[in-house]
Amino acid sequence: KMRKVVSVIGAGNVGEHTAGLLALRGLVNVRMFDIPRKDGDKLIEPVKGKALDIKQMLTAIDIDAKVEGYTVSPEGEGYEALDGTDIVVITAGFPRRPGMSREDLLDKNLSILSVICEKIKKYAKDAIVIVVTNPVDLMTYAVYKMLGFDKRKVMGMAGVLDSARFKTFISKEVKVSPKDIHAYVIGGHGDEMVPLISISNVGGIPLKDMLPKEKLSELIKRTQFGGGEIVDLMGTSAYWAPAASIVEMVEAIVTDNKRILPCSVYLEGEEGEYYEAQNVCVGVPVKLGSCGVEEIINIPMLPEEREMWRRSVESVKRNLKVVEDMLHARS
Ligand code: APR
Repeated sequence: KMRKVVSVIGAGNVGEHTAGLLALRGLVNVRMFDIPRKDGDKLIEPVKGKALDIKQMLTAIDIDAKVEGYTVSPEGEGYEALDGTDIVVITAGFPRRPGMSREDLLDKNLSILSVICEKIKKYAKDAIVIVVTNPVDLMTYAVYKMLGFDKRKVMGMAGVLDSARFKTFISKEVKVSPKDIHAYVIGGHGDEMVPLISISNVGGIPLKDMLPKEKLSELIKRTQFGGGEIVDLMGTSAYWAPAASIVEMVEAIVTDNKRILPCSVYLEGEEGEYYEAQNVCVGVPVKLGSCGVEEIINIPMLPEEREMWRRSVESVKRNLKVVEDMLHARS
């Protein structure tokens, strides 16, 4: 059976690791796109080197998927190889440095993404698009609007990562394998993200029956600042866990396995638990399959969770005005 094609635009820390992990699964062919870099007075093409390295890794372990690297220009030249792509993953753009919020990246990353969207429209108009560039909820919204694709085909990666962080912390605290821990983090990918405590469980036992309230709030706080914790330690943002989270989403789509994963998706005040979210992209649990976002999964929230959710949506919406203005200025 022919392998599907995943194009990763931006082969920096997150993009390179995504390409590597995708290749290791052997499920798809991978194409990587990035700009050249100055090395002294020489222009080098790191993306081609990274693709060769990954391809040779595959050969070493008997996997025969294809991996190709393409140098593009910031102005949008060199994207022809997007043709025939089934899934595009966008990780191009600047990451956070210590002391920065995700919103500090808005301006610069939006300009980069607007060029990329033009090219996706031109060469991969039937693709499903996964946005990773931060601030991810705003970028997902911008990409959705700029592409004009069906809303099921554009999604942002955040919830899978935030939930993995939350589950990691819970696992350590309760001393149970993370495999037996079930938890979703929804809302915006910011300090106000919403870990859903009421439905979180350890082997079916509600989390709130296993840990004292203070411990729970501690885990919630650590999850909300989980990205920042790593930025402070490493001087740049995380990439292994983000990359693995992207791979989970890609695999769900490629294999049509109907997994329920929290993703940032375009909501327009749909009836159900998330009705407060209108004309905004924000994280909710969705069913992923070959069509992309196949269903929004409504999880009942406790009043205090709903209050957190509302605040989180509001905070994404506040910044959305800036995005709207930029989008208008462009059109
Ligand atoms: N076109 C294509 N690629 C670009 C462009 C552009 N115009 N501008 C920058 N890039 C590439 C860079 O060359 C770099 O290789 O995007 C890559 C970004 O990689 P890193 O700087 O290593 O950042 P990373 O940690 O991978 O984060 C990328 O994902 O998680 C988010 O907040 C993070 O917004 C950031 C993005």
